[in-house]
Amino acid sequence: MREHKIAAIPADGIGPEVIAAGLQALDTLQQRCGDFTLDIRHFDWGSDYYKSTGRMMPEDGIAQLKSFDAIFFGAVGAPDVPDDITLWGLRLPICQGFDQYANVRPTRILPGISSPLAGVGPGDLDWVIVRENSEGEYSGNGGRAHRGLPEEVGTEVAIFTRAGVTRIMRYAFQLAQSRPRKFLTVVTKSNAQRHGMVMWDEIAAEVALEFPDVRWDKMLVDAMTVRMTLKPQSLDTIVATNLHADILSDLAGALAGSLGVAPTANIDPERRFPSMFEPIHGSAFDITGKGIANPVATLWTAVQMLEHLGESEAAARLMRAVEAVTAAGVLTPDVGGTATTQQVTDAVCKEIRGANI
Ligand code: NAI
Ligand code: MG
Repeated sequence: MREHKIAAIPADGIGPEVIAAGLQALDTLQQRCGDFTLDIRHFDWGSDYYKSTGRMMPEDGIAQLKSFDAIFFGAVGAPDVPDDITLWGLRLPICQGFDQYANVRPTRILPGISSPLAGVGPGDLDWVIVRENSEGEYSGNGGRAHRGLPEEVGTEVAIFTRAGVTRIMRYAFQLAQSRPRKFLTVVTKSNAQRHGMVMWDEIAAEVALEFPDVRWDKMLVDAMTVRMTLKPQSLDTIVATNLHADILSDLAGALAGSLGVAPTANIDPERRFPSMFEPIHGSAFDITGKGIANPVATLWTAVQMLEHLGESEAAARLMRAVEAVTAAGVLTPDVGGTATTQQVTDAVCKEIRGANI
């Protein structure tokens, strides 16, 4: 029996609601498959923990997580705690501390879910966005001076290193190579950003030589929004900087129907540390406690987690179950349905148990 150690960090808002849904489905899968077990430990870190301790996680939090095989993460963010504290206090230290430099965001229009784009259906939009997750515009390099004075200055320095760009390009080309179309689009802004982004382009061209069977092209980030919207069929695998991919992947999520169906994986491809799996969305306090959070993003990231753990059969079974349920119209309100989180989750578990899939 294969065993995987999972750290579950539901955290804030709808995080606990969607993580509970994910764990229910994972438990059902273990029983159905019978050849692996997940040893799950819960961590109560997040904004409530912050309000009682002054920290989002304990000082040795990263050390506590280190021995796990994967981290299953909900969302952070509370109306009464500043967003930079919640983000820099928990989620980013995990991504950075474990050097999860590849942020992988699959986007597809699932059956039964409609895109806001007229005439675009399942099959027309099947992308994976690879976001550089360790440097770029979110490196944390910068500062403030002359606070409060008229000459106050704030700098936010985007850092691009040869090592950092090379490794994300290699990851993206490999991922493109593993997909049927073997096609990568490199997003850039080298017309206006003449240093880091020009190096980014140069390294893309160098790494491309290692992958002669992968076709690739280059898009300026502004034009990319137009192509994503008007010609979604023309894209497959996409690589972009931390900031660019952050924005483009929210657009991708919206074009696929809802943020509530968009998953993400923060991967350490070298497997030195645990990787982290989470929905793209935040804590959504507008719907917290109403029982209507869409669990699909979290179920899909559980699929990514199972793939990472080598449980590809269980991963495929879970994805088929989710697609069967969306196709049957069992949907939460964000994607036009009337079902609750629990009803969608129960329907997915029923599909998992069913003999037909
Ligand atoms: P959000 O993603 O929480 O919500 C945006 C909109 O999408 C809301 O109307 C929400 O109801 C809806 N939505 C999100 N997930 C949904 C789901 N699963 N089912 C149905 N509807 C869903 O983003 P927002 O409102 O900008 O941020 C709220 C808090 O979350 C903030 O504190 C923000 O900093 C934090 N945040 C945290 C993230 C993370 O932990 N990775 C990512 C994004 C935001
Ligand atoms: Mg974002």
